[in-house]
Amino acid sequence: MTLTNMVGVRCFFKLLYAIVVLILLHMNNPCIGCSERESQALLALKQGLVADDGGPSLSWGREAQNKDCCGWDGVHCSDQTGHVVKLDLQDQYLQGKISPKLIELQHLEHLDLSGNNFNGSQIPDFIGSLSNLIYLDLSHANFGGLIPYQLGNLRNLEHLDLRYQDDFNYSGSIYAKNLYWLPNLSRLKYLDLSVVNLSDVVGWLEAVNMLPKLTDLILYGCNLPPPVISSVSLLNSSKSLVQVDLSKNNLNSSIFQLLPGNLYFLDLSKNKLTGRIPENIGQMSNLDFIDLSMNSFEGVISETHFSKLSQLRYLDLSSNSLVLNFSFDWVPPFQLYQIRLGSCKMGPYFPKWLRTQKRYDRLDISDAGISDIIPTWFWDLRNKFVYMDLSRNQIRGNLRSELAYDNLNVSWNQLEGPIPSILSSVSALDLSNNKFSGSASFLCTSTTKDNKLRYLDLSNNHVSGELPDCWILQQLVFLDLSYNSLSGKIPTTMGYLFSIKTLKLNNNRFVGELPSQLKNCRELTLVDVGENKLSGLIPEWLGENLLNLAIIILRSNQFNRSIPPQLCHLTHLQILDLSMNNISGTIPKCLNNLTTFAQKGSSTLTMEHAYSLWDYINEASLTWKGVRSKYQSILGLVKSIDLSCNKLSGEIPPEITYLVGLVSLNLSRNQLTGQIPSRIGNLQELDSLDLSRNQINGRIPISISWINRIGYLDLSENNLSGKIPIGTQLQTFDSAYGGNPLLCGEPLPRICSEEEKGPRQFVLVNEDDKDGLITQGFYISMGLGFAVGFWGVCGTLLLNMSCRYTYFNFLTFLNDWLYVNVEIIRQRILNK
Ligand SMILES: *[C@@H]1O[C@H](CO)[C@@H](O)[C@H](O)[C@H]1NC(C)=O
Ligand SMILES: *[C@@H]1O[C@H](CO)[C@@H](O)[C@H](O)[C@H]1NC(C)=O
Ligand SMILES: *[C@@H]1O[C@H](CO)[C@@H](O)[C@H](O)[C@H]1NC(C)=O
Ligand SMILES: *[C@@H]1O[C@H](CO)[C@@H](O)[C@H](O)[C@H]1NC(C)=O
Ligand SMILES: *[C@@H]1O[C@H](CO)[C@@H](O)[C@H](O)[C@H]1NC(C)=O
Ligand SMILES: *[C@@H]1O[C@H](CO)[C@@H](O)[C@H](O)[C@H]1NC(C)=O
Ligand SMILES: *[C@@H]1O[C@H](CO)[C@@H](O)[C@H](O)[C@H]1NC(C)=O
Ligand SMILES: *[C@@H]1O[C@H](CO)[C@@H](O)[C@H](O)[C@H]1NC(C)=O
Ligand SMILES: *[C@@H]1O[C@H](CO)[C@@H](O)[C@H](O)[C@H]1NC(C)=O
Ligand SMILES: *[C@@H]1O[C@H](CO)[C@@H](O)[C@H](O)[C@H]1NC(C)=O
Ligand SMILES: *[C@@H]1O[C@H](CO)[C@@H](O)[C@H](O)[C@H]1NC(C)=O
Ligand SMILES: *[C@@H]1O[C@H](CO)[C@@H](O)[C@H](O)[C@H]1NC(C)=O
Repeated sequence: MTLTNMVGVRCFFKLLYAIVVLILLHMNNPCIGCSERESQALLALKQGLVADDGGPSLSWGREAQNKDCCGWDGVHCSDQTGHVVKLDLQDQYLQGKISPKLIELQHLEHLDLSGNNFNGSQIPDFIGSLSNLIYLDLSHANFGGLIPYQLGNLRNLEHLDLRYQDDFNYSGSIYAKNLYWLPNLSRLKYLDLSVVNLSDVVGWLEAVNMLPKLTDLILYGCNLPPPVISSVSLLNSSKSLVQVDLSKNNLNSSIFQLLPGNLYFLDLSKNKLTGRIPENIGQMSNLDFIDLSMNSFEGVISETHFSKLSQLRYLDLSSNSLVLNFSFDWVPPFQLYQIRLGSCKMGPYFPKWLRTQKRYDRLDISDAGISDIIPTWFWDLRNKFVYMDLSRNQIRGNLRSELAYDNLNVSWNQLEGPIPSILSSVSALDLSNNKFSGSASFLCTSTTKDNKLRYLDLSNNHVSGELPDCWILQQLVFLDLSYNSLSGKIPTTMGYLFSIKTLKLNNNRFVGELPSQLKNCRELTLVDVGENKLSGLIPEWLGENLLNLAIIILRSNQFNRSIPPQLCHLTHLQILDLSMNNISGTIPKCLNNLTTFAQKGSSTLTMEHAYSLWDYINEASLTWKGVRSKYQSILGLVKSIDLSCNKLSGEIPPEITYLVGLVSLNLSRNQLTGQIPSRIGNLQELDSLDLSRNQINGRIPISISWINRIGYLDLSENNLSGKIPIGTQLQTFDSAYGGNPLLCGEPLPRICSEEEKGPRQFVLVNEDDKDGLITQGFYISMGLGFAVGFWGVCGTLLLNMSCRYTYFNFLTFLNDWLYVNVEIIRQRILNK
């Protein structure tokens, strides 16, 4: 054999040896594989769990699988002993209970059951018997109830995560009454109890204080009470802590006395911190993240607060009452990535220190008291802004187009000049409430087909001329051009806004008809084209194609002819304002098909659309008790029909009394005739009723007096007659009845004749909605009703010439009264 051959053979054997060793290492030693006990324990665990979707759960123990449980999914065994040391069932979407057999896995060091659904059951106390555990993650698992104190037996634990139990069901939240067991976990480094209710744990700080190795303390949204200082001096854990997140609790400023100096991450936002921010925060030289937003801090922030914070990258002091006072030429020691200083007063000049910052891509200096022109150096920043909010200042001058933004909000300033061509990159743009002028031609010059604009608000500016016909913004969800001076026709290409939900073109000078192309915008929820010069028919396609419509406002235009019955298809409709047009014909009888109106209480309409960084809530302007106002958060509660100031004729259809959710009804200033529907009292949610200036005749139905909530009533200028019913509020509406010469009784000066009094008035016991189904009051008033009624019938039959009239009215009354009460009871049963 040659030397090279020898070397080759030896190499071959060495390689073979290495392969055999590797194979042996990787094979589980058959002698020390997982024990029968451990297999059985795992199978028992599997037994208690099913897949969330009802499908098969874990594949463990199927015949095809190796009998050795160390090969099962999520199960890991020790190389040395073969025992199960790690069980990782994270995000398996399992549902059920944890078998007590789990404690057979006595060698377990790592247990992760997060992202499953334990149905709101308690964290099992036997987990405390797994005394070798180092890592325990039970987060996002829908556990409920008290945290078992037995967790205190886990002396080796380094990582404990119980956060967010309520992903599946908000009922499944866990809580603790004390944390006496916590100090026993003396090796703990990482503790996250976010959204665990700790509102009763007075000594939480003491407990945390006794964890000498703690590095990460995350107690977000725990309802933590303020710390009691006397008992604790300085955190023992302070030397080790690097991350402290105590945001969204009830802490007060005493927490500052207890914070360590060698911190990286400090989040105390959304607490009840008051007074000044201590200057020694400027000595925490490792800090790279500070969030103190949404507290009640006041006083002046000076350069001292930042003197050693050279590592700072994230600064959020917004939503406090702070004043920033830096010297004119201040050069901060840091380079920030995110600057969030909304509501911090730093004006009147544009903050010059921003010039030293080169890397930030998020800036919020809204409501900062700045009354200045944006300086030229600001436009030299080359970074693309994810987010820039300069709103609610007094910023003057032009907006230039050099910078690239994803989200830009400059609303509520004094900006003027033309709107720059910045639409090509932006996804949300709020330029509202400024003095921008010129035409809207920028739309055509700076939009492209793959444009990602989702939100555009140009409302309350001086934009004029016709809208260009190039609306190809397929991502656009929100468009507000209201309160400008736009004229001409509404462009037909708006029919290509396939994603649009909110369209506000109100308070401009648009003419012509609503383009039928808009029927392609099937996501539309809100259409406000009020206060323009639009004309023609109210389109039938509104009801045929736009089935998501919840709010239609066509007020103050020149729409004519009748209300198309197709509008009754709009089951989500909850605000219909057709007032001040030239609409004739009758009110459609199909109104009772409008199911949102026919249901009491708040609708699901929240009109919130989540954005990358901004949320917005739709507003709707309404006339409410004679005052025009904007409604935002309560939008779900507002259910209103306003057909006032038209040429509607015929009767008020009795079907309107099915709309029991109606909060405001305005039919005034029409040519309506006939009587007020006798069951008007069904409208128990009604807060405002205006039927004034029509030709309505007959008596005011007694049922009207049972609408407890009514706060505004106007029946003036009609042909109503007879006695005004006695009711809780009816006599307080002094001006509600004028211009009806045949009406009598309080609050009018004219006293009723015996005949005008009509049927007797019954004193009704108005129970509050909260008590039981049929109250004592119900029986009492019913008995009283019969007794008085019987006397009334017989008495008048015997004594009074107009008995037939009275008898008839009494029966109507009784019928209405029973009807209303039965309806109320039915609604209550439905709502139960
Ligand atoms: C979990 O609770 C739901 C509803 O309460 C129930 O339908 C389901 O059977 C429960 N699942 C298990 C595995 O107990
Ligand atoms: C904490 O440890 C002590 C022993 O040091 C033990 O007596 C006590 O029961 C433990 N407490 C809890 C709540 O586990
Ligand atoms: C959430 O919990 C409530 C009451 O505990 C129950 O009625 C509801 O069905 C649960 N929802 C889900 C999705 O489990
Ligand atoms: C937290 O617990 C307290 C009492 O233990 C209770 O009053 C409070 O409503 C709970 N908070 C939440 C958000 O569940
Ligand atoms: C801090 O730790 C020391 C020992 O390192 C101990 O003597 C002291 O009691 C601890 N302080 C508190 C408040 O727990
Ligand atoms: C914070 O609250 C604790 C307990 O209520 C109280 O003792 C302490 O004085 C408060 N500190 C401040 C600064 O208000
Ligand atoms: C701002 O700082 C200057 C000097 O640094 C001081 O004279 C002035 O009073 C401060 N203003 C406020 C409002 O604190
Ligand atoms: C309705 O409006 C259109 C467009 O302005 C007009 O042509 C038509 O004559 C009007 N019809 C009535 C009955 O007023
Ligand atoms: C109203 O609803 C009824 C029954 O659901 C239906 O037959 C009728 O066509 C509807 N009318 C209109 C105008 O939507
Ligand atoms: C309203 O309609 C009538 C016909 O019904 C018409 O004579 C009148 O000119 C219209 N008014 C307006 C402002 O369009
Ligand atoms: C812009 O800022 C104003 C005032 O701060 C705010 O009301 C508005 O909602 C913001 N716009 C968006 C789209 O977030
Ligand atoms: C009803 O509408 C008319 C005209 O649109 C208005 O003047 C009046 O104030 C409204 N009534 C209520 C109660 O809002």
